Amino acid sequence: MPLLEGWGSYTSLSPSKLKTAGKIRVFFTLSGEHPTLPAAEVKALLEAEEVEVKEFEARRFLARMLISQDDCSRILDRASMVTGCYHELLACRAEVEEIAKEVGGVDWSTLKGKSFAVRVERKGGCCPHLRSAELERLIGKVVKTQVPEARVCLKAPEVLVKGLVVDQSFYLGLSLAEVRRGVFDERRPRRRPFFHPSALEPKLARLFVNLARAKRGDLLFDPFAGTGSILMEAALIGCSPVGLDIDLRMVEGTKANLRRYAPHAIGALRGDARHPPILKVDCVVTDPPYGRTSSTRGEDTSTLIENFLNVAADLLPHGRYMCLATPSWLDLAEAALKAGFKVVEEHEIRVHRSLTRRVTVFRRC
Ligand SMILES: C[S@@+](CC[C@H](N)C(=O)[O-])C[C@H]1O[C@@H](n2cnc3c(N)ncnc32)[C@H](O)[C@@H]1O
Repeated sequence: MPLLEGWGSYTSLSPSKLKTAGKIRVFFTLSGEHPTLPAAEVKALLEAEEVEVKEFEARRFLARMLISQDDCSRILDRASMVTGCYHELLACRAEVEEIAKEVGGVDWSTLKGKSFAVRVERKGGCCPHLRSAELERLIGKVVKTQVPEARVCLKAPEVLVKGLVVDQSFYLGLSLAEVRRGVFDERRPRRRPFFHPSALEPKLARLFVNLARAKRGDLLFDPFAGTGSILMEAALIGCSPVGLDIDLRMVEGTKANLRRYAPHAIGALRGDARHPPILKVDCVVTDPPYGRTSSTRGEDTSTLIENFLNVAADLLPHGRYMCLATPSWLDLAEAALKAGFKVVEEHEIRVHRSLTRRVTVFRRC
């Protein structure tokens, strides 16, 4: 299979520059920091962006599909758990002989005159008999034998050849985009103008926004806004976020945080989630108080959240989504069904020994 012409410098291929028409086979590497959430995010993003893909499969560390390059960049631009995107050259069983044979079958001629590096990662502890360094050497040798004019450059290669050993399989691709690690760091709770211990990490807040299938231009509502983590991430992907909090100090804090990171965002108001001063929204994303680091104002957590479910059902149009983070002991299934929601997916995140968070995505029926 010939490599794509003109894709030499992966370092200059920022997602927004991937512009060739037609679908190509890519694999995304996923952070794998949770067993189901990274794959769920990719699936939700494809739906949110209304991207048509073929032959889609997603697992803890990897998502593969046939997708256009433009669509690919739309997913990468807003994902929180995708770590890279690669044009797939081959997929085979994770066996040295098979890998060597398949790599030898690739037409590497477009690396002529280019510098390259091979990096192989082994994920999820599979195939301990395969050593990354050995596979890197093996692949590099095949490339050099086929194209002696290609130069190895480990520090700043024009082309990065990426191998992934996962789930007893081996995938090899050319890097199209490496997601900058730490892109969320500048918005971490402690770095914001206003801090509160109940604040969500920006990566998690972005994930919740994505799971709610929020689209650019959507009016996104967070009725328990706190420090504004969800509103910030929503604004940064082009939504119009509006928040509510019963505590004036939190409202002022949210405003300060939004001024720093998303000054164009609509903002937050003081109010009770059960009586919102708003009639319709496009999606709801929220992390209600559990009565620990954040106060429920004396209200019982389950009553507060169950009451809010009825409000959310009135606010949301049919077919749109709500992403809710609740303590895992709280069973909302029946109340949600009664209010007019269908549970689309559920994921559990262990926060610490005595708290597990359940992230539920509901669709308004
Ligand atoms: C868990 S915190 C939200 C944290 C937020 N996601 C963040 O990252 O900063 C829950 C918030 O709900 C607010 N709250 C409690 N009862 C409320 C109610 N009835 N209506 C609106 N907000 C309420 C609390 O003041 C608190 O700021």
